[in-house]
Amino acid sequence: MTLKVQQLAKTYHSRTGVTHAVLPTTFEAGSGEFISLLGPSGCGKSTLLQLLAGLDTPTAGSIHLDGAWVNGPSRERGMVFQSYTLFPWLTVLENARFPLDLEIHQDYSRPSSEILTEIGRVHSLLDLVGLDAFKNSYPRELSGGMKQRVAIVRALANQPKLLLMDEPFGALDAQTREEMQELMRLLHAHQKMTVFFVTHDIEEALYLSTRVLVFSARPGTIIEDIAVPFGAIRDPELKFKPEFIRLKRELTALLHPAHEANFDRTGLLRRIISTSS
Ligand SMILES: Nc1ncnc2c1ncn2[C@@H]1O[C@H](COP(=O)(O)OP(=O)(O)OP(=O)(O)O)[C@@H](O)[C@H]1O
Ligand SMILES: [Mg+2]
Repeated sequence: MTLKVQQLAKTYHSRTGVTHAVLPTTFEAGSGEFISLLGPSGCGKSTLLQLLAGLDTPTAGSIHLDGAWVNGPSRERGMVFQSYTLFPWLTVLENARFPLDLEIHQDYSRPSSEILTEIGRVHSLLDLVGLDAFKNSYPRELSGGMKQRVAIVRALANQPKLLLMDEPFGALDAQTREEMQELMRLLHAHQKMTVFFVTHDIEEALYLSTRVLVFSARPGTIIEDIAVPFGAIRDPELKFKPEFIRLKRELTALLHPAHEANFDRTGLLRRIISTSS
């Protein structure tokens, strides 16, 4: 798999004016990479993901996936959003196999045996993510983490080359979030798709990724392209290793320079002590 993004840019025109969401941005990605996108709020991360998904059209530049021009959504690219996007009237299994059921009804170009194999894969993926006992449950009966697991399985139903995830764990509590991180590592090792993962959590980005793209403030463009130097085998202990902490500190300084320079910790502590005594 080769993804080529060349001079990609997006400008929005609305009643309130012109917004340059993404400045011309160029990068490439290969098979099996896990790429996190970090950057200040409003720098264009979601816009870039929408462009990669083919859900929005660029103002300039191009995206090619294995030589083919990306100009609309495709089963080669799956997406997971921050908010829960399951259909409340469908069960877990029906939600997860929804893209395949759509194909059965709309796309007669694929042999049904191929789709049946994929439905079998959805069943195994639901088992893999621990939802085997919940296949016939409805979204309202699930926790937030479980709903996101269904959304991830649904995005993987078609065995996409690219999995695009926009702050998928943003709404989850810390413990569930860590469980989901382990699950993502398992799924990535198992499915070997290329992942683009938007997060505001520097630790999460470092722990999961093989590579981190750091964006400037809006209009966003890539200011750092960092190869994460930890191997494929990782466990939560990694987060306490000196090399991990050093990289986390460097990324924090890059993303919050004003915070680093102006934040007077000693002064704040003194004020808290003096007001509480
Ligand atoms: N449909 C739209 N119409 C007009 N402006 C838009 C539209 N979508 C996004 N924008 C603007 O483009 C800029 C980039 O937005 P985007 O949602 O991509 O940022 P982001 O990096 O994902 O931010 P966050 O971290 O807060 O999710 C913002 O200024 C936003 O207001
Ligand atoms: Mg966003």
